[in-house]
Amino acid sequence: MEISVLQDSVLDHATPCLMLGVVAGKPATPLLQQLDEALDGVIGRAADCREFCGEAGRTLLVHGNRRLTCERLLLVGLGKEKEMTAESLRRAAALAATALHERRLQSCALVLNDLTSRLPVAVAAEAWVEGLQLADYRFQNYLAADPQRPAPLARLTLLTDSDPAAVGAKQAVLRSQAVCRGVFLARDLVNEPGNVKSPAFLAERATELAAETGMECTVLGREALEREGFGALLGVAQGSLREPRLIRLDYRGAADERPVILIGKGVVFDSGGISLKPGENMDQMKMDMAGAATVFGTLLAAALLRLPVNLTGLVPAVENMPSGNALRPGDILTSLSGKTIEVLNTDAEGRLILADALSYAQRFKPREVIDVATLTGACVIALGHHAAALLGNHRGLLRRLQQAGEICGERLWPLPLWKEYGQQLKSEVADLKNIGGRPAGTITAAAFLEHFARDYRWAHIDIAGTAWQEKTADYRPAGGTGFGVRLLITYLSRLCRVTENALTQSRP
Ligand code: BES
Ligand code: MN
Ligand code: ZN
Repeated sequence: MEISVLQDSVLDHATPCLMLGVVAGKPATPLLQQLDEALDGVIGRAADCREFCGEAGRTLLVHGNRRLTCERLLLVGLGKEKEMTAESLRRAAALAATALHERRLQSCALVLNDLTSRLPVAVAAEAWVEGLQLADYRFQNYLAADPQRPAPLARLTLLTDSDPAAVGAKQAVLRSQAVCRGVFLARDLVNEPGNVKSPAFLAERATELAAETGMECTVLGREALEREGFGALLGVAQGSLREPRLIRLDYRGAADERPVILIGKGVVFDSGGISLKPGENMDQMKMDMAGAATVFGTLLAAALLRLPVNLTGLVPAVENMPSGNALRPGDILTSLSGKTIEVLNTDAEGRLILADALSYAQRFKPREVIDVATLTGACVIALGHHAAALLGNHRGLLRRLQQAGEICGERLWPLPLWKEYGQQLKSEVADLKNIGGRPAGTITAAAFLEHFARDYRWAHIDIAGTAWQEKTADYRPAGGTGFGVRLLITYLSRLCRVTENALTQSRP
């Protein structure tokens, strides 16, 4: 989608479709009145019969006439002024995207000034442009070309009559485009089928990403992993014909500074292994590398935005399969940390590969470590599809992550990590067992990880309920959601700002 910002009078701008946000329960703005007059009172009549009064979730499309330069006018309900947030704007924009899509309109213009008085124009513009792009995403790599299928939106013009608004909007456009590229990369990877995305495939994508952005990519194959002693990761991988990889991506945006490490669970397909999953919905387990996709997407966006921070992405990539060579329930693995693990359920594989990645992270002297994983079905039971679970060992880190989630609309909700839960992981024959029984499944999984996240600040984000959507909702089309990219970019952007403030303040 080509997006431009234009300083132009709305009433003189020629476009197939002019989009205008309308706030509920407020008198019509001067612009809306002018348009209504030109349209002989159509908008007023729609309001009189309660067909459209600016309620959230509603739109009104009217065709223009010779008195207007736009061919159509799309009014988008923004809801009540005091309930308006960046998130409600993203949702309104998604609704507009659907309206345009259904009508096969490929070019439109948005009136910036009427968007809201509650948010700075740049914030409102960013939310709108982000919502529109995110909603317009489709995964069509395996569909034959079809002229009947509506094409995605090709052109969006943001209209404003003020100079500062234009400057703010231009920055907002660049920012949202970078972030959306990250989200789209994550969604593409999650939507890719299991037969295509082997661990080697993920490593190749990472190598390409590094070449494109100037990052550094290092890949450890099976032999290197054996040499180093990644026993837990190799245990999970041994049942698959596809060899595992440990993918490392380094982005350097700051001078000598310890890196923030992002770890993503990269199980390209989770059959459960010998503890085989039931057949129903097993196809969805191609999304079990969504954490890895989030890490790649975040690094891409961070590099495009040139965030002044150092980042290291670590992705343990494996396939969890049953076979004559697969891990058995009862097997004991020696992890990279030296701790032994009794594997009582081969379907609790994510924590095994993450354990070794968390131990490996220690070598890079991290500033902090955040892991993102589709780790437990229990997380879906606890929070459904509206929030990811948040656990960890550092209050400030968790608080800042949760705040970032509120800002960008990718919400997190904390669960306790009290030491009592750790008792469920005691084994008679090894240092730990890999399952803690049915109670508090998301917490015991995190308690397991905590044994390996030593000596650094650590947060764990369980995205089992948010990484994948069966049905389209708001600005998230069905399939992979890319959840976590906007969260981490919001978090990291704010982290950079804090660091910069601290630097300027410490200067004489
Ligand atoms: N990848 C799954 C978790 C999952 C479930 C993600 C549903 C997304 C949607 C994970 O590897 C798994 O199988 N977890 C088991 C753990 C259990 C055996 C302790 C689970 O949650 O059932
Ligand atoms: Mn599993
Ligand atoms: Zn899994």
